[in-house]
Amino acid sequence: MYLKSLHIKQFRNYIDQEVIFTDPKTVIVGNNAQGKSNLLEAVLLLATLRSHRVSKDRDLVRNGEAIAEIQAIAQRSRALESYPVELVMRMRASGKRSLTVNSVTQTRHLDFLGNLNAVIFSSLDLDLVRGSPESRRNWLDTVLIQLEPIYINLLQQYNQVLRQRNAFLKSIKQGLIQYDPQQMSLWDAQLVTAGTRLIRRRSRLLDRLTPIARHWHQAISGGCEYLEIAYVPKFAFAPTDKVEDIHQAFFEAILQRTIIEKHQGTSLVGPHRDEVALTINATPAREYGSQGQQRTLVLALKLAELELLESVIGEPPLLLLDDVLAELDLQRQDHLLNAIGDRVQTIITTTHLGSFDAHWLNSSRIFQVENGKISF
Ligand SMILES: Nc1ncnc2c1ncn2[C@@H]1O[C@H](COP(=O)(O)OP(=O)(O)OP(=O)(O)O)[C@@H](O)[C@H]1O
Ligand SMILES: [Mg+2]
Repeated sequence: MYLKSLHIKQFRNYIDQEVIFTDPKTVIVGNNAQGKSNLLEAVLLLATLRSHRVSKDRDLVRNGEAIAEIQAIAQRSRALESYPVELVMRMRASGKRSLTVNSVTQTRHLDFLGNLNAVIFSSLDLDLVRGSPESRRNWLDTVLIQLEPIYINLLQQYNQVLRQRNAFLKSIKQGLIQYDPQQMSLWDAQLVTAGTRLIRRRSRLLDRLTPIARHWHQAISGGCEYLEIAYVPKFAFAPTDKVEDIHQAFFEAILQRTIIEKHQGTSLVGPHRDEVALTINATPAREYGSQGQQRTLVLALKLAELELLESVIGEPPLLLLDDVLAELDLQRQDHLLNAIGDRVQTIITTTHLGSFDAHWLNSSRIFQVENGKISF
């Protein structure tokens, strides 16, 4: 996977900026608020069609403008038989998007996905251990969208059912409509069917990620820590459960909450409420160890994500390191460096080059960014 060039227009604080990537590593240096994270966000949007920072396209379009555009030339491998693809994503402040691959409009998200793959590791990822369950769910979703693009449809279907069921519950709460058990059970059935699809895929993903993450975690921490990662819905669940058993347990969990859901006017069970439990030596990771140890865990999760994507896709994804390298000590930087070598194209942002292990700067190209302008 190689990103050859990126051209962004009216995106965030950029007006019209082209960047050509020539080396395995690109380091983007700049002061705070100059556009470092914005550039990585643009790349991630092409890989996942989601921003890791905001949910509304209005925030992505440069203030005062109507349309933002991200264009990239990517090549799946540097082998002779693969051709570069041109990807274009246009976002409007109104929310409507358009996508093209080699100038052909793609109406389905899943046809656009898969042309570029990326793993981002930013300071926001420290939330994976200490933050809310939402950040862990978002992480799983972002990985799944790239591993199996159909997942983006399943996610949209679930969110649509959830919105409609919530609107129904809210209307009951506000006394706008009468409670109709038959109607309710129709919504329950749709939520359970669409939700179980997400639960099974998320749980399967963790089954695949855990051994890889455990390996990295032990390598970086020096051996004696045992990492476990489990998917935890609001009902008893084992990854080996059959679909019918998950349906059944999901239904029962909803039925137990009917009264409280009507009272609160919202859905309380389902993948939108699920948790990912990270434990180290049987202790919840958020309670375990120092900030440095939690950072080791996040690094292990990210390396696992990279390795899994690489093995499924057949070539390494791009690695986007947003301001995190300087926060890792030299030993952890070394682990990361050895894991990626020159094989993984890496874009790194930093405010200062000083705290980098000098090895990072070999095979690196350094750009400066100031106020949405990149100088080479
Ligand atoms: N929609 C937008 N229109 C115009 N400017 C924007 C928009 N969204 C963000 N910005 C500007 O982009 C800048 C932030 O860019 P970015 O997050 O890339 O900074 P950074 O270089 O990563 O900084 P830090 O080192 O603090 O992480 C801010 O000045 C912000 O006002
Ligand atoms: Mg930033």
